[in-house]
Amino acid sequence: MRVKLRKYSEGKFNIQEYELDITGKPTVLEILMRIKEELDPSLAFRAMCRASICGTCAVKVNGQHKLACNTRVEGEEVLIEPVDGFKPIRDLVVSHEEIYERLKPSRVWFVPKDGNMKLLPEVQRRTAKAWDCILCGICNNVCPPLLEKVDFGGPLLFTRVYKTLDDPRDSLGENRLENLAAFNVQKCVHCSNCNLFCPKGCMPEKWINVIEGKLVQKGYIQKKKEDFDFLGF
Ligand code: SF4
Ligand code: SF4
Ligand code: FES
Repeated sequence: MRVKLRKYSEGKFNIQEYELDITGKPTVLEILMRIKEELDPSLAFRAMCRASICGTCAVKVNGQHKLACNTRVEGEEVLIEPVDGFKPIRDLVVSHEEIYERLKPSRVWFVPKDGNMKLLPEVQRRTAKAWDCILCGICNNVCPPLLEKVDFGGPLLFTRVYKTLDDPRDSLGENRLENLAAFNVQKCVHCSNCNLFCPKGCMPEKWINVIEGKLVQKGYIQKKKEDFDFLGF
């Protein structure tokens, strides 16, 4: 298999080609590890769990954002590149700082009340998909407003915060919703790229719709005139 890697080094990208003796349908991570072990020990890429859990191994495979560890490829040639949207560091490694910087002001983390409280089954059912998020950053990497540097919280932020909304165990309650008004949920263009590319099926745009509806209902933001009237359902 001919493997083309778009590697970053000292301010520029270069394509480097490798001929790898590999058959079947290897994962992209297996290909990268074989290249590092057999052809290029200097190759830098990021991966930890090899099981779609740690969220560190996102790359572009033949132009599409994927997790390297759960994406299989076949054929004579594959192109592997660093993800778009994050600052490149070396070869396929990008900085994840932007993910954390973007989340910090939004208080996406769960703030439990004192004492032991049970997770209600209906809350668990409603938020299960959002809890599956592994912070891989792919949804932000394919979100047009974020790529165009629009002032918008982004799909990752809204997915993370959704799982805490209306959970009686969370001490921030209504303040959490009010705080969200600053992150311009209405700048989502509902292209569904985040739903399509999320490797965990978290459906960020679905939660964005819910959050936008709640913010409009409470009067924290104005409803867009051209919006679909989801509050009517
Ligand atoms: S919502 Fe999906 S794509 Fe976005 S960071 Fe979480 S797991 Fe990755
Ligand atoms: S649906 Fe909204 S949040 Fe998702 S990628 Fe498109 S603009 Fe971004
Ligand atoms: S190596 Fe952990 S998600 Fe791929």
